[in-house]
Amino acid sequence: MATVLALETSCDESAAAIVSDQTVLASAVASQVEEHALWGGVVPEIASRRHVEALPALIDQVCVESGVAMADLDAIAATAAPGLVGALLVASVTGRTLARLHGKPFLGVHHLEGHLCSVQLGEPLPAGPYLVLLVSGGHTELVRVDAPGRYRGLGRSHDDAAGEAFDKVARLLGLGYPGGPAIELAARAGDANRFALPKGRVSRPEGGFYPYDFSFSGLKTAMLRQVRALEVSADGGGASLPLADLAASFERVVAEVLVERSCRCALDQGLGTLVLVGGVAANRRLRDLLELRCRRDGLQWRVAPLAYCTDNAAMVGVAAAERFRAGATSPCDLGVAPRLPLEQAHRLYEPQACF
Ligand code: KG4
Ligand code: ZN
Repeated sequence: MATVLALETSCDESAAAIVSDQTVLASAVASQVEEHALWGGVVPEIASRRHVEALPALIDQVCVESGVAMADLDAIAATAAPGLVGALLVASVTGRTLARLHGKPFLGVHHLEGHLCSVQLGEPLPAGPYLVLLVSGGHTELVRVDAPGRYRGLGRSHDDAAGEAFDKVARLLGLGYPGGPAIELAARAGDANRFALPKGRVSRPEGGFYPYDFSFSGLKTAMLRQVRALEVSADGGGASLPLADLAASFERVVAEVLVERSCRCALDQGLGTLVLVGGVAANRRLRDLLELRCRRDGLQWRVAPLAYCTDNAAMVGVAAAERFRAGATSPCDLGVAPRLPLEQAHRLYEPQACF
């Protein structure tokens, strides 16, 4: 068993948690969204400053709530990649300093490996390789997991990530930031079939389409055109935009495209289980549609618990505990890597720091 203090500051949530393998002993998140909402998106400089201010109190909080003292920990972990460089540095430097002070091993964690592990905070996974649909503000990926730490990317977005599309369309509709929860709320009262919108495909140079890849830029443009057309037709009439129907139609198309391509990929690859994680996995329509289609296609499914879909440190702790039990630790001078791909997560545990 491994008891780990984990820290997360890769974007706009400061978070600390103490986990014992897959059991959360305490988890605390301080969100900065209200401040970034004033700017319509994350301002990296502000994010770093707020992490510096928030992290010490969050660490105190999880130690008190869990009753775990520094001396009781097996290891200290921090997200080291990918993310905003200044933001990543806050958890990394704090984690490495605490590890030095208390004589504990340190582990840098790949943020996406954290998201992948978030599903273990719910039901246990069935045995065997599985397919993960990871949908967040920065990533839309289909990842085959053969064993812990062994990943193969099978699909991805060629432009915006799914969460980014939610955020941009919410801005277009004047619904605020972050866009995912705002669109979900507006969509509740809407007719999801009112507007026909495109399910973007990515062409292959040799003809045809990549079957498991995504593109959200055409959908974004179609939303913009639809809004402009409605504005023109409403001109002089004083009618306001049908926000609920626009939000619901957009949400439906994103959910359908994500689920259809994921199920297709799982079936084609002979993978019996589909796992949904990441901030966008908090979306109720997406969760429900995934369950419906998996039932129909004879696939098993797992969805990250709602509380651990958006960024948190508990998922980082689970990933670190798994690596630590397998014998991995990071060098104490490990830096941060803003763009490290998931397939290279093992580089965080090489004896010599490579970044
Ligand atoms: O995983 P996450 O917290 O941060 C990243 O690693 O990027 O994901 C944040 C993204 C944002 O784009 C946000 O709009 C989206 O997840 N999101 C949602 C919902 N809650 C958060 N998208 C759709 N529906 C939601 N309920
Ligand atoms: Zn994330």
